[in-house]
Amino acid sequence: MGFPKDFVWGAASSAYQVEGAQKEGGKGDSVWNMFARIPGAIADGSNGDLGCDHYHHLEEDVALMAQMGLKAYRFSIDWSRVLPEGTGRVNEEGVDFYVRLVDLLLEHGIEPYVTLYHWELPLALHRRGGWLNPEIADWFGDYAALISERLSSRVKSFFTVNEPQCFIGLGYVSGEHAPGLRVSLEDGLQAAHNVLRAHGRAVQQLRLHAKQPLTIGYAPTCGVIYPETERPEDIEAAKSLYFGIPEDTSRWFWNVSWWSDPVFFGAYPEEGLRRFHGFMPRITKEDMRLISEPIDMYGQNIYNGMAVRAGEDGKPLFVPRYPGFPATDTGWPVTPEALRWGPRFLYERYGKPIYITENGAACADAVSADGRIHDQARIDFLAAYLAQLKKACSEADVRGYFQWSVMDNFEWAQGFAKRFGLAYVDYRDGRRILKDSAFWYRDLIQSGGESL
Ligand code: FCB
Repeated sequence: MGFPKDFVWGAASSAYQVEGAQKEGGKGDSVWNMFARIPGAIADGSNGDLGCDHYHHLEEDVALMAQMGLKAYRFSIDWSRVLPEGTGRVNEEGVDFYVRLVDLLLEHGIEPYVTLYHWELPLALHRRGGWLNPEIADWFGDYAALISERLSSRVKSFFTVNEPQCFIGLGYVSGEHAPGLRVSLEDGLQAAHNVLRAHGRAVQQLRLHAKQPLTIGYAPTCGVIYPETERPEDIEAAKSLYFGIPEDTSRWFWNVSWWSDPVFFGAYPEEGLRRFHGFMPRITKEDMRLISEPIDMYGQNIYNGMAVRAGEDGKPLFVPRYPGFPATDTGWPVTPEALRWGPRFLYERYGKPIYITENGAACADAVSADGRIHDQARIDFLAAYLAQLKKACSEADVRGYFQWSVMDNFEWAQGFAKRFGLAYVDYRDGRRILKDSAFWYRDLIQSGGESL
């Protein structure tokens, strides 16, 4: 058995990483506009002001996606572009931009998958406490209502938030991402609870204002813990860590279950409640009902993982990586097994159709003398990962895959130095060049995954 016939083959991006035009079209500022200006915040001193200038290359970029043979495109809406103050006044020019994008995609037979929040918190809301303020559930709900009202006649699939682990963990706890805060465990847990409530409110509002039945999902992330072998004890060892809560409370947010058990089970995991005892926010039954508002699909961004085996006493042991272990240009390990065991474990625990909402590799791409980009390393990476995902398809209900990313872009705190795209972007003049991997992916899509 291979990939299902109607498997969704796509690629992804996010607003701030590609759009540019940060001071145009009536857009308000987001926390990233503020953060990227702090000296030292971005490794190469850059910011997303120009991004890939996708805002002005819309037709060309959608045509590129069509050339890649994409069946679907996952993009995010910049909250501060449509609601410059975060609430209240609608910026019609901003809404029109996304309406135009959706129209272009549909004209090219590409199915839009919209993410409501890929980290562009309006600065005006940050000044009112941002994710630390419980009122954000209502602000986010109102924003979701607007998007559903305006887009759901043509868009069927929505994700609420992307990678809460990152925008809370890196944004509010370690300070590496916008808004660059370093809050206490107590405040971090409050922010996380607010995110989950906001997710639930958005699910309700998306449905309430929908013009057709919608498929609604959530797109968290986490390194996968996978078994070194298929021995049942190794599989159990891997699962126990994958769904466990880290002992190191400074890294509390790097886990699966704290962010997903409440959404699917309506309850926080016991292990976490024990570990965080004394630091938890006030939680009501209504909160948990709101958070667990039923959803239709489970998105997961998966880039890598760690192998685990059961030790002699049955306790899980990490398998050390050998010197020179393969890594991508961001230094992330190449562990294709993550794309088999991750979906399998997630489906087994939560029972919802799985979409891999992001997966890909940064490579040191350069334009060769022949004018092309021979990114064999990316092709090898994708081929190895997708071969594992193919296995997962016979073990779990996996419905789609979105390569990260449709084009090179602003890689957050790493700036423009790291290239993840299927299309190369020359930042001097905005020129796009399809990389070899884009043609490889096109052929793979055409074969329904059979050419692997
Ligand atoms: C993920 C983000 C995405 C991109 C990739 C490389 O954490 O969701 O925006 O930066 O990593």
